[in-house]
This record gives sequence, structure tokens and C-alpha cells, in this order.
Amino acid sequence: MIKRTLAITAFGLSVISAQGVQAANSLNVVCGAEQSWCDLMARGFSDATGIDVAMVRKSTGETLAQVRAEADNPKIDVWWGGTGDPHLIAASEDLLQPSGVDTSDLLGWAQNMSRISEGKTVGIYAGALGVAYNRELLAEKNLPAPACWKDLADPAYAGEIQVANPNSSGTAYTELATFVQLFGEDEAYGLLTEIGKNVNQYTKSGSAPSKAAARGETTLSIGFMHDMVKLASSGFPIEIVAPCEGTGYEVGAVSIIKGAKNLEAAKQWVEFALDAAVQSRSVEVKAFQVPSNSKATVAPESPDLASIKLIDYDFATYGSTATRERLLSRWDAEVKNAPKN
Ligand code: F6P
Repeated sequence: MIKRTLAITAFGLSVISAQGVQAANSLNVVCGAEQSWCDLMARGFSDATGIDVAMVRKSTGETLAQVRAEADNPKIDVWWGGTGDPHLIAASEDLLQPSGVDTSDLLGWAQNMSRISEGKTVGIYAGALGVAYNRELLAEKNLPAPACWKDLADPAYAGEIQVANPNSSGTAYTELATFVQLFGEDEAYGLLTEIGKNVNQYTKSGSAPSKAAARGETTLSIGFMHDMVKLASSGFPIEIVAPCEGTGYEVGAVSIIKGAKNLEAAKQWVEFALDAAVQSRSVEVKAFQVPSNSKATVAPESPDLASIKLIDYDFATYGSTATRERLLSRWDAEVKNAPKN
């Protein structure tokens, strides 16, 4: 059996190496999923190929910033996970390169990412946005359960809601883009400002608010439902709401960075990441996104996207540099520092 070593450095960098196997080379991966899934993927890839993997977990906006900053001398080979819009933006800025991978087994929404980016990014999973609340805190504070996005503007929730910052978090950027698509731009910013009066913290990572709700540090959170299901199925007192107006969704993506120093290994990673058996393993770490390979097993706990009122999310528009810059500048100006209730 292959012996593996996993070392976590002070900087959170995991280095996974396959001992006893001649390492063809090594691979530098930035992972945008939860740490446990990042580690499972790195170990699985290292076991399957003998290639050493150096991996770090980052939020999607942070990775986009790093890829841009390192354009002339990339340190990352592969960007695996994180919401798809920033991957599409990196593709349009000529920061990624096509993997040439066969996408014929992938579901339509995953192939769509490849089509928009001319093969420079491809979908690996999907998941819908929702609201979670801690039912014990809600009852203790005698608060109503929300059913709609607009309910979150109720002054009764002052200081009770947590959500991520869309500059760093792909989750929160998906929320911002969803509001604009659902309500139109001016109404969306009005509503986000009203909800902002109730927000106790804008976190860096998209899954942090729901973890805080699970631990009882905030009553409500906005985030991806699959992250909420993970917490609920781990025994936390979390209830999940699919907002009545409808909701947006992410297509998580994998991309090879242009100028990757370990190109062959990077291509192997993309193939590995799209493999049905590999995607089916996500349930081992309670990652309940819907897998992109049509032959992968969907966990029974995964939110059923067909039964959620989803918007027809416009990935080409919201995955463009101009739209993202405009939406984030307006969020910084109007929402971030809105006065509190
Ligand atoms: O926790 C996993 C996850 O929700 C992914 O589904 C998603 O792509 C990623 O987190 C987004 O993270 P962030 O909002 O921190 O960029």
C-alpha cells in the first residue's frame, strides 16, 4: 500500500506526498472547497498518480486576486473549487489555459462553463443559495422564521444575520448577483442595504456564517444550502430555507493557470476531478454539492436543485470583469458601511 504523509504548515499549507512511488513531479493547487474535501482530493490524487500535491484553501475572490497578481510568474498550477464566476473572469483575462479534457459525461451546466470560457474552466459541482437559522436561538429570542429574502430586512433581526463579503467570497458574490437578477439593480442594492442594517459581520469565507449559526454565534446566515446541510446532518440545530422569491446557484469550477509550471500534472488533476468515482467520494466528507459528472452518485442529502425555485443565472454576464467590478464598487459604497438598525 502507498504510504502517505500529510503535513500542515503554520500557513495552513498541506503537502501530501506519495512515498514509495516515483513522483513524476509535483502540483500546486489552490482549493476553494471545504478543507476536508481539499484534503481528500489531494490524498486521492497523490495515491492515484504518485504526484506530490501542495495545497492551500482560499476563498474564491482571494484566489482571483492571487492569480491576477502572479500573472507573470504563476505559483499555482490548478485552481480547484470555488464559485465559477471568478474562474470565468480569470479565463476572460487570459489568466487560464484550456485543459483539453473530455466533457461529454458532464451535465449541461458544467459544460456551459467550458463553452463560455472556450475550454479554460469547467464545472465540477453545483449548489443553491439559501438562508439558515439556528432554531434554538430563534425560539429563545422569539423571532419569526424567515421564508423570503425580503423577510431578512425585518428590523426584528437587528444584529442577528451573518453573511460573507462579496469581495473575498464567491458565495457572497453569487448572492449579490442573484439579488440583482431577481430584483433589478436599484431594488437589489436597496434591499441589501436594509438587510445590511441587520448584519453583525461580513466574513471572509462563504461558509463561515452558517458555521457561526450552527455554533449559536449568530441566529441567521446566508450561504450555500449544501454547507448548511452538512451542519444539519452533523447534528447542529440548523433549519434551511429556500427563499420564496427564488434563488441563485453556483457552478463550482476547476481551471489550469496559464503558465502553470506543472502542466502535465495539472491536466491529470482536471481529469481526476471530473471522474465519476472521484466525484462520488465527496459524501465521505459530507460535501453535498451536486456533482457535475452525470455518472457520479448524488448523495441523498444533497439539496435537490430540481425542486428549488432557481433563477436562470446568467454566468456569462456575472462572470465578466466589468460586471463584477461595478457590482463590488457599488456594494462597497452603499452596503458595506450602511448604518445599523
Ligand atoms: O464550502 C464549500 C463552498 O460553499 C463551495 O461550494 C463554494 O464553491 C465555496 O465554498 C465558496 O467559498 P467562498 O465563498 O469562501 O469563496
